[in-house]
Amino acid sequence: MSTARAPGKIILLGEHAVVYGQPALAVPLTQLFAEARVEAGPRGEGITIAAPDLGQAIRAEQEPDHPLVRAVLSGLELAGHRTTEPDLAISVRSTLPIASGLGSGAAIVTALIRAVLMYFGIAPSAADVSDRAFEIEKAFHGTPSGIDNTVISYEMPVYFIRGQAPSPFKAGKTIHLLVADTGIASPTKITVGRVREGFEQEPGRFQPLFEAIGAAVDSARRCIEAGELRELGRLMNRNHSLLQQMGVSSPELDRLVDTAQGHGALGAKLSGAGGGGNMIALLEPEQRDTVKTALIAAGAVRVIHTDIE
Ligand code: PMV
Repeated sequence: MSTARAPGKIILLGEHAVVYGQPALAVPLTQLFAEARVEAGPRGEGITIAAPDLGQAIRAEQEPDHPLVRAVLSGLELAGHRTTEPDLAISVRSTLPIASGLGSGAAIVTALIRAVLMYFGIAPSAADVSDRAFEIEKAFHGTPSGIDNTVISYEMPVYFIRGQAPSPFKAGKTIHLLVADTGIASPTKITVGRVREGFEQEPGRFQPLFEAIGAAVDSARRCIEAGELRELGRLMNRNHSLLQQMGVSSPELDRLVDTAQGHGALGAKLSGAGGGGNMIALLEPEQRDTVKTALIAAGAVRVIHTDIE
């Protein structure tokens, strides 16, 4: 039997613009994770996948194009199983909310690929797992930048540019974040599609927004490495306002962002695809309880605290 986990992720700055070639910064979120377990199944049953958190019980033979099946088959291919399908009973669970900007899909796919490889005694490399997960993301999300599979497979803070190897970064001073969930599921495909339409209709308005986000990301990386957290907070606020102008925020996200800013957070913004899902707030540790209480009063259904070292 083998078991493998993959964390969630937070995009610190740069979402959406990263699809258009701009840089973005992302970190793993280890408090929430997906876990896959692989064991020998009954003879002749083929591959079965139970995913109770997703309300799914799948037989690979019947749904070869299901993303979870694709993940398992991709892991098998990487492990050298090209011809016959082994009998495997696979289960997957996840504490990550779905369609909430925390990388739930990429985490489940990554955990499955890792667990399959480990079942066959193969220690998977982050690059191999990331490449495989990216192929599956592409089949289901259209035009992903690759940031989710990268930060989740490498499990380290990354400065990411589409199509390039990720560049790790390290915080000069601990970064204290709150991650607050609006409780509203918002599929990535929809907001990514909305930005695509906006860009096609008004390239002259969207291109400068993407470039302004890219510039904020580069400044933010320098601030993070130098421990200049006040300036980082200002850049996060600016990034949120640029995302609002792109039409990917929502009243619930704006309410949580305003609340965090109004209660002394150094900065706040939506995180991930937007439209719902999660926002992040940067704070001094002394402010944590006040901001957390205010976020819950403003409608957050869950607030997680995470530190980036
Ligand atoms: O999966 P999410 O909701 O965190 O969104 C991914 C980030 C986007 O930049 C919106 C899309 C992408 O592929 O980079």
